[in-house]
Amino acid sequence: MNKAVIGLQWGDEGKGKIVDYLSENFDLVTRYQGGNNAGHTVIVENITYKLNLIPSGVIRGKVCFLGQGIVLDPDHFIQEYKKITEKITDPRIYLSSNIPLILNYHKQLDRINESILTGESKIGTTSKGIGPAYQDKVGRKSIKLYDLTNPHSLKEKLSSIKKFYDPILKTFDEDLIDIDKNLELLNNFFIQVKNLIVDNNVIKKDYFNKKILFEGAQGALLDLDHGSYPFVTSSNTISSNISIGSGLQVNYETIGIFKAYATRVGNGPFPSELFDKIGDYIADKGVEFGTVTKRKRRCGWLDLVSLKYSCEINNVKELCITKVDVLNELDEIKICKSYEGKQFQDINFSDSAYLSNCKLNGSDFEIFPSWGNIDGMMNYDQLPQNLKNYVNFIEEYLNLPIKIVSLGPERNQTILR
Ligand code: IMP
Repeated sequence: MNKAVIGLQWGDEGKGKIVDYLSENFDLVTRYQGGNNAGHTVIVENITYKLNLIPSGVIRGKVCFLGQGIVLDPDHFIQEYKKITEKITDPRIYLSSNIPLILNYHKQLDRINESILTGESKIGTTSKGIGPAYQDKVGRKSIKLYDLTNPHSLKEKLSSIKKFYDPILKTFDEDLIDIDKNLELLNNFFIQVKNLIVDNNVIKKDYFNKKILFEGAQGALLDLDHGSYPFVTSSNTISSNISIGSGLQVNYETIGIFKAYATRVGNGPFPSELFDKIGDYIADKGVEFGTVTKRKRRCGWLDLVSLKYSCEINNVKELCITKVDVLNELDEIKICKSYEGKQFQDINFSDSAYLSNCKLNGSDFEIFPSWGNIDGMMNYDQLPQNLKNYVNFIEEYLNLPIKIVSLGPERNQTILR
């Protein structure tokens, strides 16, 4: 069966590591949304791989496909591709010819958008031009990879884009769009990647009846339609975007990934956020600093209310919990199980105003005693009973099995149940 690995929180759940772990049994690993706003670090046999766009199946030499639902920054892709070729010989990576590109003006517009928002209303984007690139896709102005084969129409497209955006760029003292410079950049890029570009139907035909692993980026609570709007990313991160974003109309089962606690980068509601030294401790021990922007991540207790919602909207069938080891030394560990007494059915997870004003109290939490050191434990039976109780509580609340327990960043620090 094909599988989808989906983040159930606000991103950074450890999807990269789990995709690497699972990809052994798949023929193709596919991204279907997002861009280089995503970032993950995978450690295998003491070698660290940092990836943003390329699915981590590449580490095992799997064929990787970037579907049309992603947005691709040419300069970034070339850098990432070069870096991966230093570690992996002949990586097999294909790019859908329908992928829309992120160009410099998208990054300028991302900056402008953020600069006109004030205080708490700032989104805190990754500044990678993601939102404006998706705006262009919906606004039918994208330059797509297939456009690079036709310099004449490419120039025409860039001319109308320039007419549309130059007045805004001028107002904000940004450089205006330089058509020749963009044409040169795109031409150089095309020369370097033309052998990687494929039409969707080629992948469809070649991987018909083969096993596909879909790698989600960001997390369900950052979904454009289902997350805490406007503090979301600009793509649909949930599993129902898979067919559209990959161009592959296949069935799959969803494995939902979550950390044993919660983190969020950028602004937006976070009901179980910790503002005390425990939050700082988790951030330090969990190395909760953005791989893309280096920003310190906000940390909080595991929130089962939003997790239950994420499981529902992704049709999750099984679960994976990561970074359990980060909580080992805490005296007590909490889990959020309601918002002011309310359950997920009574909450609108898009309504940021409601979520931001939500004040949790003691009865919204379940408290668990410490489980102590779990270093070197390689199977589930070895784990301390207190940790098993924690896991059981989550499974019962979500009514789903936790099939994978990740105890550290290395591939082999993973327990399959
Ligand atoms: P954008 O995707 O750069 O437009 O940023 C929108 C929001 O999503 C911001 O709060 C970002 O911090 C957040 N975001 C985007 N990508 C990721 C990710 O991969 N992990 C965590 N947060 C992300």
